[in-house]
Order: sequence, then structure tokens, then C-alpha cells
Amino acid sequence: MKRLAILASGSGSNAEKIMEHFQNSDKGKVVLVASNKPGAYVLERAKNFQVPTFTFTRKEMEEGILLKKLEEEQIDWVILAGFLLKIPDALTRAFPDHMVNIHPALLPKYGGKGMYGAHVHEAVKAAGEKETGITIHLVNENYDEGKIIFQAHTPIDELDTPDSIAAKVHELEHKYFPKVIEGLL
Ligand code: GRF
Repeated sequence: MKRLAILASGSGSNAEKIMEHFQNSDKGKVVLVASNKPGAYVLERAKNFQVPTFTFTRKEMEEGILLKKLEEEQIDWVILAGFLLKIPDALTRAFPDHMVNIHPALLPKYGGKGMYGAHVHEAVKAAGEKETGITIHLVNENYDEGKIIFQAHTPIDELDTPDSIAAKVHELEHKYFPKVIEGLL
């Protein structure tokens, strides 16, 4: 049974789907939800699933507190689900090929600095793209540039707004992210 930690900064709807999925899996178990935002809703969601939580500041993460916690908890896989801080190199190096992120667009397009949350969907809309999607990838030292494991596409029509694009993308994320993680374990 692999031990999973989820890192998230926001609402945590993906984290919830992952916790739900792994309640009934014999391959993995979510044993920790960690966040840099003490008020993040993801922490409430974790409590509802009786998953322990851990919060930390950016400075503490850079000083190695998060890495220490992940080691203490004997974490096998780190799942980034809407985690907005740049991961320190020491942390990435501690989980080679065992850290996975979801990005709400079809990388390599619409990735990199500043491309998170609504910014991504606004940029996709502004460019007049005919489709968008999700990318699940391993994390290396350059944020959105790790090996791509999975992509799913969804069409965009003229009436779509950044909000409706976001909703389509979230639907894909919820559908695929837990299963893709399970496939990796
Ligand atoms: C998702 O769109 C994910 O792709 C991105 O951050 C968002 C998190 O959403 N990395 P939620 O907090 O899981 O609802």
C-alpha cells in the first residue's frame, strides 16, 4: 500500500476526488494533506475524510520542514493538486519520478510562470483556441516541464467563457486524476 501526500493551496476539489478514490483502493492511501494556506478549504475537506493535515509557510518549506514531515510520514508519492508555490529543488530531488502535478491546459502550451488558475483559461480564450484540456505530469526542477504522463482534451466553442472553460477542465480533472495516479502506483 503506497502512502500518498497531497499538497494543495486552494479549494481542493481534486484533492477530494483523490481522497474519495483511495478510500476504496488497495494500492494507495492518502495519509496527509499539506498546505501553505492555513485557511484553504482543502483542509476542511481533508478533515471530512479523517486525513491528517499539515500547514507550513513558504519560508518553512524552503528551510526543509515539509520535506522532513514527508519523510517522517514515509510518503511514497507526492501529489500536487493546485499547489501554488515553487517546490524547492531538495524536495523534488527527494521524490525522483514520484511527484506528480496536474495542470489545467494542454502543456507545453499555457504553462510556466504566471500560468495558474483563471489566468490559464483567460489566455486560452484570448488565443481563440478550439480545444483545451488537462496535463498530468511528473515534477522536475522546472515546474511544468516534467515528463507528461497523461492528457485529455475538451472542445471550446465561441460561446465559452474563461469560467465555462474552467468548468470543463475541472470535470476532466476530477474524472481522470485519481485513476491516473492509481495507475502510477
Ligand atoms: C486545478 O485546476 C489544477 O489543474 C490546478 O489548480 C486547480 C486546483 O483546483 N493545478 P482544486 O483546488 O482542486 O479545485
